[in-house]
Amino acid sequence: MSQISVFKTFVFISILLVLSNQGCNHLCGKETNGSPDKTKSAPSIHIVLTGEENGYLEPCGCSEEQLGGLSKRHTLISHLKEKDENLILLSLGDLPSKVGRQDEIKMETALDALDRMGYVVHNIGEKDLNMGIDLLGYLSQISNVDFVSSNIVDLDTSAFNIKPYIIKEIKTEESILKVGILGIVSPELIESACQDVKVLDPILALKPLLSDLHDKTDFLLLLSHAEMAESIKIAEVCPEFDLIVSGHLVDRPDLYLKKVNNTYVIPVGEKGKYVSEITLSLQEKQTDEGGSFNSFLSAIETIPLDGKFEDSHEIAMLLRTYQQRLKDEELLAQVFKVDPPSGLEFIGNKDCAVCHGKIFKHWEETGHSSAYETLVRSGHEYDPECVECHVIGLNYFTGFETIESTPALKGVGCESCHGPGSDHKETLSKDYGRVGVENCEICHNDEHSPNFEFKEYWEKIKHPAEEK
Ligand code: HEC
Ligand code: HEC
Ligand code: HEC
Ligand code: HEC
Repeated sequence: MSQISVFKTFVFISILLVLSNQGCNHLCGKETNGSPDKTKSAPSIHIVLTGEENGYLEPCGCSEEQLGGLSKRHTLISHLKEKDENLILLSLGDLPSKVGRQDEIKMETALDALDRMGYVVHNIGEKDLNMGIDLLGYLSQISNVDFVSSNIVDLDTSAFNIKPYIIKEIKTEESILKVGILGIVSPELIESACQDVKVLDPILALKPLLSDLHDKTDFLLLLSHAEMAESIKIAEVCPEFDLIVSGHLVDRPDLYLKKVNNTYVIPVGEKGKYVSEITLSLQEKQTDEGGSFNSFLSAIETIPLDGKFEDSHEIAMLLRTYQQRLKDEELLAQVFKVDPPSGLEFIGNKDCAVCHGKIFKHWEETGHSSAYETLVRSGHEYDPECVECHVIGLNYFTGFETIESTPALKGVGCESCHGPGSDHKETLSKDYGRVGVENCEICHNDEHSPNFEFKEYWEKIKHPAEEK
């Protein structure tokens, strides 16, 4: 339908930066400003960059404009592979966000997805490291994606299959192009509690590798898991790199692209909302020893993963398996809980209805009352990260636990806004349950409700006047 034609026309011209042919790198050692017509144009090579998923496997669906998600990414990558079967896929690091069982399952799922998409390298970020050496070691053994870090020095490399760099060889008709891929994590991002590994100063770790790799590769690329300022510093000190992929705290990657001498420094952006595609153009070069290639970076394209992309069936199924694992491991019942304030308890909407019948009847007609069913419809009702905002008091004792044990606390109920009502039920105090905009914003935050406006929203659901 019209969606599909829109897709075809716009996908590949999203945010495109075509670079002038001046970034000639160490392969040729001199500028290649010769007339392009005389040089037989050779194939180009494409590199796809993503990273900093930060536990974001898919858009939650809370609002419509959300970008990203692994299954949309898969669809895009399949299209790009149709154009170039040699596509190189690289991951900057930070698949999970927090520590804990859910993020362990997430990490495994996300890595599985990268594997299925054909990623070559996953650089290790500090959030990956926080998952612990045991899990990382295990994943590094079972995954086809190579784990790379040039500055993490592991104490037991037999358990942890990690490489300081890899050289990816791409065969073109005439020659073989060698892309050297290194990776670092900034020591400044490492929590002091992470004692298992030693993280070296990036530049000290990179320098010896670079002097070794410079002659062995045609294009050198660094996955720099650091903030832009630090990545730029590396670019200044290590001009051997043709491209440095950076990140951290960058929302719109296309706005922050930098060129430091002949090195491009580009961020990937957070939560996998964008995919960057780099085009390396090759030009045939006749030397005394025979034909070889100049390579230069000719285009950088930042593609927002929006509604134009369908979900890939394969990754959608993988994410369903992820949800099934959350259910099977009963993660909802293991959510960390605190006591509600001053010994209060959640009692559920039905109790309120006894005295506030009219408000209750009206509330039943609002989306809040069916917020749990919304999750059931999208198959996320066992995911603590969703349930939290779609029920009463998940993070409190006496709040929602499971649908079996606390069915009365499903949905965004009276007490989601007014707070636990056990005391009020006895005292009928007028002072109970003051609600302001700040109560709404616990759930209606930028991520989940970007268009939230208190007045406008409250108007849509405001209670009817009580019968006296
Ligand atoms: C921080 C709180 C929060 C979290 C966490 C959250 N949601 Fe929501 N969700 C909301 C809010 C608020 C809305 C209403 C947004 C609006 O209308 O502006 C909403 C709306 C939705 C809707 C649209 C309902 C409709 O029909 O209009 C879906 C679907 C949904 N959420 C699913 C999920 C899923 C799946 C997850 C977990 C991946 C999740 N939510 C996590 C707060 C949250
Ligand atoms: C046994 C009857 C009863 C029950 C049960 C009850 N309330 Fe009330 N509620 C009252 C009365 C009576 C008042 C005081 C009304 C007045 O004096 O104007 C009140 C006041 C309130 C107020 C303050 C209104 C104001 O004047 O600002 C809120 C909010 C409220 N109730 C919410 C709830 C919620 C939520 C529940 C369920 C958790 C609940 N009530 C349960 C009887 C009840
Ligand atoms: C505990 C989390 C939570 C709180 C607190 C919360 N909301 Fe919501 N809100 C949601 C969720 C989840 C949805 C989506 C419900 C659905 O359709 O599944 C939603 C939907 C809505 C909607 C659309 C519902 C409809 O019927 O069209 C409005 C309007 C709204 N909220 C207003 C507010 C206002 C105003 C406040 C504060 C007074 C508030 N919400 C507090 C979670 C919350
Ligand atoms: C989305 C958040 C939200 C939910 C859910 C909610 N309320 Fe309220 N409630 C409010 C806000 C906001 C006010 C009024 C604030 C104001 O006008 O000062 C209010 C006011 C009230 C009042 C005093 C209003 C009056 O007319 O005197 C009562 C009583 C009350 N709510 C009861 C309930 C009951 C019972 C439920 C569940 C059936 C419920 N509320 C669900 C946000 C909520």
